This record gives sequence, structure tokens and C-alpha cells, in this order.
Amino acid sequence: MALRAKVLGTGRAVGPTQLTNEDLTRIVDTTDEWIVSRTGIRNRFIARPEDGVCTSDLCAEAARKALAAAGLEASQLDLILVGTVTGDCKFPSTATFTQAKIGASNAAAMDISAACSGFVYGLELANALIQSGVKRHVLLIGAEVLTTMVDWEDRGTCVLFGDAAGAVVLGPSDDDTGVLSTYTKSDGNLADLLWAPGCGSLRRLSPQSLENKDHLIHMKGRHVYVHAVRCMADATQQAMDLAGLQPADVDLLVPHQANIRIIEATCERFGFPMEKTMVNVDRYGNTSAASIPIALDEAVELGRITKGQVALLTVFGGGFTWAAAAVRL
Ligand code: UT7
Repeated sequence: MALRAKVLGTGRAVGPTQLTNEDLTRIVDTTDEWIVSRTGIRNRFIARPEDGVCTSDLCAEAARKALAAAGLEASQLDLILVGTVTGDCKFPSTATFTQAKIGASNAAAMDISAACSGFVYGLELANALIQSGVKRHVLLIGAEVLTTMVDWEDRGTCVLFGDAAGAVVLGPSDDDTGVLSTYTKSDGNLADLLWAPGCGSLRRLSPQSLENKDHLIHMKGRHVYVHAVRCMADATQQAMDLAGLQPADVDLLVPHQANIRIIEATCERFGFPMEKTMVNVDRYGNTSAASIPIALDEAVELGRITKGQVALLTVFGGGFTWAAAAVRL
């Protein structure tokens, strides 16, 4: 029995096409000034239909980098978990396509549906499975090609999202490194504030559902914003309490990258200085389940967090779902 799961390696991949705020002004009635001042986003990377890149392609690229960083072969993986709501297809899971692409022939594979919170939900699951000895090496990925669900006529949402995948390889830890706490929560009463209601059994695919754009993202941004600030504060506090940490014990806050104003509100609430906070929403936009793992990977790459230091991951998303985790690298 391991004490906990620890991060053995990280990796990321982004959509091949860059989309700037300037580009968006040619698609909808918006300005660089509005997008930057309301969200902090300047740029995002997307996978256009003509790019021929699907979610599992991004997963596989991020996974190969994470495996290389971990010094493991794909054949050593016991489980692949992919947090996503924009997978390759309805079934089978994007995790199984990823398995095939990287050649993880000894692994089980499945997806986790928790919108933006999918990666941190998956971290709780992976940690429990590794702690209990049920699995040894788990590849955990957060990945989205959200632009498949973007309404390019809705300026309130189409400026926000990017496409990416972030991966971590987890394995057993017997020292003080690894997952110190996880906290997960949801409230299904608020689902219709941020959802894509079409194409399932609720609103079946039909000419009418397509005309209504039921298959695309619908968001009441202002309401979501208020809940995001409240829930990320809740999750952050809970994860620190469960790990017995004070804000000063956290070396790097890695918040969900939806909006710089939500990140700043979270920092202010707990007195985290911005220099102890990972921010890349300006370059990638909101990549949903990929947001935390690509921020974590970039933080590792930049030396913003190093071995033995504590990262606090905190996220909020559709469902509503929210979650946080404290991890000593
Ligand atoms: O990742 C999952 C969680 N998601 C989030 O956390 C998102 C949370 N919500 C937000 O980040 C913000 O609510 C948004 C960035 C989506 C919107 O910012 P806001 O300050 O809440 O703006 P708003 O939706 O209340 O709209 C204010 C005004 C409206 O005009 P009127 O009605 O005041 O004349 C909008 O029509 O801004 C207008 N607007 C825009 N103007 C220029 C909305 N989108 C745009 C745009 N460009 N792209």
C-alpha cells in the first residue's frame, strides 16, 4: 500500500492553429480591449476542422511527453483516465483511442465527465486507486477540443475557449511527496447555467435541435462568474484544511484558467500573491479540463514549482462541479 499517488511526469499539447483577439474581431462584434479587460485572454490555440486533429491526438501528444518526463514506457501504464466533455465521439471513450495511439497495451481506459473539473476529479480517483494498490501507474489527462461546441455567432462565449490537453503520469509514493488532499463537489441544480443540452437523450438530435443550436455551449456568464468565485474559494479552503495547510504553506496556486478576474478574486480571498499564482489564461484561453494540467506542466517547465514544493490546484466548471487538490511535487 502506498501512502499516496505522486506526479512522476507532466506534458501538454495545444491545438495547431493560433487564434488571437484580433482574429476574433473579424468573426464577431468584439474588441481586443473588451476581451482583455473582461477575461485577461489575448490568444488561444484551436484545432480547426481542416487541421484534422481530434481530442485523442492532443491526449497522445501530451501523454508521450508526460511518459518521457516520468521515464516510463506506455506498456507500464495500468490505467488511463481522460477528463473531457469534447471527446472524439460519443463512444468509445477518448481514453481508449489514446491508449491505442500510445500503445498502452496493459492499461484499462475510461473517460471522466465533470466538465472543467474533470482533471481534478480524476486526480482524486487515481490517488485512491494507487493508494489502495488497485492500480500502480495511472496516466491522467484533461483534454478538450471545445471549439467543436463553440457557437461562433455568440460573442459572449466564442472568445473564451481554446483546445488543449494536459497529462500527468502518477505512481505510488512512500515519502512526503504526492497528493496531500483532494476535495470534489457538485450541484446539479445549476446545470443549465453552463451546458450543451443537445444530441443526447434529453434533446435528441433533430433538425429543430440543430436550428436551436442545442449541441453548442450555452452559458449565462454573469451567473457562472458569481458561482465560480464562491466555489473556487470553497474548494481551495477545503483542500488546504484537509491537508493541514495554511496559504503561506502553498508554493504555487494553479487555478482554473477561465478568467483573470476569477483568479485574482481567489488570490485576494486567501492572500496569495500573484507571483505565487500560475497564470496562462492570456495565452491559452479557457481550455476546460485541460486548463489545470497545462498550467501545471508549464509551471514545472518554467521552474515556477520544483520538487518538494506544494501546488494547490483549484477548479470550477459546468455541472456545476468544483474541486481542489494539494500536491507536493
Ligand atoms: O470554465 C467554466 C467556468 N466558466 C467561467 O468561469 C466563466 C465565468 N464568466 C465570465 O468569465 C464572464 O461572465 C464573461 C467573461 C463570460 C463575461 O463577462 P461579463 O463582465 O460578465 O459580461 P456580460 O456577459 O455581463 O456582458 C456585459 C456586456 C453585454 O453588453 P450589454 O448588455 O451590457 O450592452 C454583452 O453583450 O458585454 C457584452 N459582451 C461583449 N462585448 C464585446 C459580451 N461578450 C462580448 C464580447 N465583446 N466578446
